[in-house]
Amino acid sequence: MYYRLHNYCKLVEGAKRGAIYNLQTGKVHSINQGGLGLLTACHSQQLENFLVLESPQDKPFLDFLHHLTELGLGSFFLNEPSEPKEKDQPIEPLQLEFVWLELTSSCNNQCLHCYATSGPSCSLDLIPHERWLSLITEAHSAGATAIQLIGGEPLLYPHWRELIEKAHQEKFSFIEIFTNSTLIDDADVAFFKRFNVNIATTIYADNAATHDAVTLNKGSYVKTMAAIDKLLAAGIQLRIASIIMKTNELEVQNIMNLCERLGVEVTPPDVVRPTGRGDDNALLPTQYAKQPIKPPFYTDPFSFSNAQRQHNCLNGKIAITAAGDVIPCIFARNQVCGNILKSPLVDVLNGQKLKACWQTTKDQIEKCKDCEYRYACTDCRPLAQGSDPTKRWLACSVDCLYNPYTGIWKDDHRCPTKENPNDLSGNTLK
Ligand SMILES: C[S@@+](CC[C@H](N)C(=O)[O-])C[C@H]1O[C@@H](n2cnc3c(N)ncnc32)[C@H](O)[C@@H]1O
Ligand code: SF4
Ligand code: SF4
Ligand code: SF4
Repeated sequence: MYYRLHNYCKLVEGAKRGAIYNLQTGKVHSINQGGLGLLTACHSQQLENFLVLESPQDKPFLDFLHHLTELGLGSFFLNEPSEPKEKDQPIEPLQLEFVWLELTSSCNNQCLHCYATSGPSCSLDLIPHERWLSLITEAHSAGATAIQLIGGEPLLYPHWRELIEKAHQEKFSFIEIFTNSTLIDDADVAFFKRFNVNIATTIYADNAATHDAVTLNKGSYVKTMAAIDKLLAAGIQLRIASIIMKTNELEVQNIMNLCERLGVEVTPPDVVRPTGRGDDNALLPTQYAKQPIKPPFYTDPFSFSNAQRQHNCLNGKIAITAAGDVIPCIFARNQVCGNILKSPLVDVLNGQKLKACWQTTKDQIEKCKDCEYRYACTDCRPLAQGSDPTKRWLACSVDCLYNPYTGIWKDDHRCPTKENPNDLSGNTLK
């Protein structure tokens, strides 16, 4: 007798435990060391070689296999089944998809947490206008279909409209400006409408006192809210971001209520990330935190295959700073992959440094590389790097409380056997 997991179920080994990824249902089932050893043995030999099928002593092993069968994860076979032919998942090519252009490092606000360390007295802008124009064409030729103008405050860049016109001419399918919205006037709103520009903006509270205490710009709340009203009245696609730090940590619900009243998407605000001025423990909120990394994890054929080849978020993205540096994400300020004032964009895109960023998988990341959840668990490299005391690119996220070497979640409330409905340890082997 033989036992095999179905073709659509993949066994991933961790240092201590294992996981069965069901690519059909999307569930990731956690199994303990006994289950992992049993399935590994099943894969290479018949059951009679290592189990006495009628023995009460070996009954738990067979019960475990029956349980997997009931869950649709595997089957018993009388004869040795032939090795399944692996159907190759289409591999997402390494190609540029999305580009941030940081038009200026200047800003009329001076937010406490700004990762770009922008402010009124900041000017590191080195890229001639003609180069920005040509970069839009180069990025599009390299495959990018989505573009965002950002800063600093992008509307302080004198010729931003020409860049939008250029992106429109190049037929980018998604064009967005990320702005603090303090400088938007009626003519700008009409321009956004005409060129189908999406707007992203930021609020830190539902009142001027707290919002302005973050932006350090008195009057900014009133201006931003007035612009939001105009944008919405004109039917412009708008998303509102919000970042929580100590100064505004009591505003979470107010911000979400405000978004609901405005009729824009309501998402729980993000917590300040440790980059630029945001790299300051004194800014951290004490009463608000994002969800920690924890089960249940989910999978699908495409992401399972991609997770073994490239980064879940960075792949296909670049940001170009006002100093010409190409970085893989606006938050990855130290990960410079080239400079477009020294080389054509295509050379940076083909360079090893960027490829290495795009191809950063959890198989390379400290601790994750030994974790059975590594092909289902998502990752933010800049966040993990920023939180690491020595700023290592391959550091594990501090938000992970799992120890793959013991199979234990640090906080009892996050223990997989209690919270994860896909944990099979309860009815399995020790
Ligand atoms: C750098 S700003 C540029 C666009 C524009 N000036 C604005 O503030 O909306 C883009 C977004 O990054 C957010 N941001 C800045 N520093 C951050 C940090 N350290 N952690 C998380 N988000 C941050 C801002 O709050 C804003 O939503
Ligand atoms: S977060 Fe935006 S508005 Fe605030 S200082 Fe930075 S660039 Fe300016
Ligand atoms: S962050 Fe890494 S160690 Fe933690 S659960 Fe995810 S893959 Fe595992
Ligand atoms: S999730 Fe992380 S890596 Fe992805 S865009 Fe955001 S900061 Fe960058």
